[in-house]
Formats: sequence, C-alpha cells, structure tokens
Amino acid sequence: MALEARLDCPDLPSLAAHIGDCHRCPLGDTRTKLVFGVGDPHAELMFIGEAPGKNEDLKGEPFVGAAGRFLDELLASIGLTRSQVYIANVLKCRPPGNRDPAAIEIATCTPFLAQQVRLIDPKVIATLGNFATRWLLDTTAGITGLRGKLYHVEGRQVVPIFHPAVALYDPRKRDDLLDDFKRLRAVIDRTGTNPDEGGAPAPPVG
Ligand code: URA
Repeated sequence: MALEARLDCPDLPSLAAHIGDCHRCPLGDTRTKLVFGVGDPHAELMFIGEAPGKNEDLKGEPFVGAAGRFLDELLASIGLTRSQVYIANVLKCRPPGNRDPAAIEIATCTPFLAQQVRLIDPKVIATLGNFATRWLLDTTAGITGLRGKLYHVEGRQVVPIFHPAVALYDPRKRDDLLDDFKRLRAVIDRTGTNPDEGGAPAPPVG
C-alpha cells in the first residue's frame, strides 16, 4: 500500500465520482453494482475484506450475505455495530462465481482502496483473510501465520484476522475468529481508539 500513488480526491464522494461506472478491468462488464464501502467516513477502525459476493453485488454494499451476518455477530461480541466502523474490500466488483481476485484486478482496484484508507484515516485496520492482509502488508505469507500479531503500515495498526467466511465452511474456526476479535478489541482499547463514542479518544487501558 505504501508504494501506491496518491489520487487527487479530497473526500470519499469525490473518490466515488472518480471511480465512476468503472470499466478499468473486465469485472466492470460482469458486475451488477460496484461496492464502494460503507460505514463511518471518520471511523477509527476499518475492516478490509476480499471482494463482493453475490449478495453484495446485487445490493452494492459489502458483507450483506452469510459472512456479513457473522461479521455483525463478531462486531457485537466486542460491543460494536457496523455503523461505528468502515468496511471496504480489496476489489470493488464481484469476480464471477466468487473466484479469487486476479493480480491485474487487484493492481487496478487497490489504488482506490489506498486513497479510501488515507481519507478515512483509521488508527486500526483489521484485514479479513489472505487477500486484504497480503495487499496491506505487502507480503505473500498466509493469514494463518500472520494472524495473532500486530503490524504497522503508514502509522496505522494492522490486525490480520481470518475471513469470517471460513467459519461458514469450517465451524471450528468460529472460536478462532472470536479470539481474533478479542485481540482486536484489546488493540483498540490500547490505542485509545474509541468507536463507542463516535471517535473521541478513550483513556489508555492497561
Ligand atoms: N466477502 C468479502 O470479502 N467481502 C464482502 O463484501 C462479502 C463477502
């Protein structure tokens, strides 16, 4: 992310307008709706997922399917709702059949995400799964080895977490995700990030 050029878009609406009815990669021809992102534009905690799935493609909103319902549960487990955070994806358009994002799609789309991160300016970013984590940390390592540790990118704390969808296929991963979110809560509290009070700094804990 640190290597990507800055875009001349001073706020999220101008970034959305700049992206427009995007056809910079072939996903523009197959998507229904572009999924820009949702939540508090000044959130101190941002989540980055992989790419829209079928439901997100239809609605134009990230994480509105089964994985999204579990994400809401995970947020609730640490006392948060999605209106207190910002949620975006590595890709803004759905890869057909939910296949993995292709390298060219990631390269085309992530300059927009990088600008989105800078504009939202979160103190903490939780990356959900391999694609978001590899992009932000600029690594080829896998999420299993990266989760459980704290990283820093451009002054932001980065907490890699399993993608919530893994628990839909492997219910044993539910507890791992709940643990990941407990760690995330501890990072938020230590950082003085306080999504509970609309971004006001919380006293440091511990
Ligand atoms: N999975 C993702 O990574 N993002 C979504 O928006 C939905 C499912």
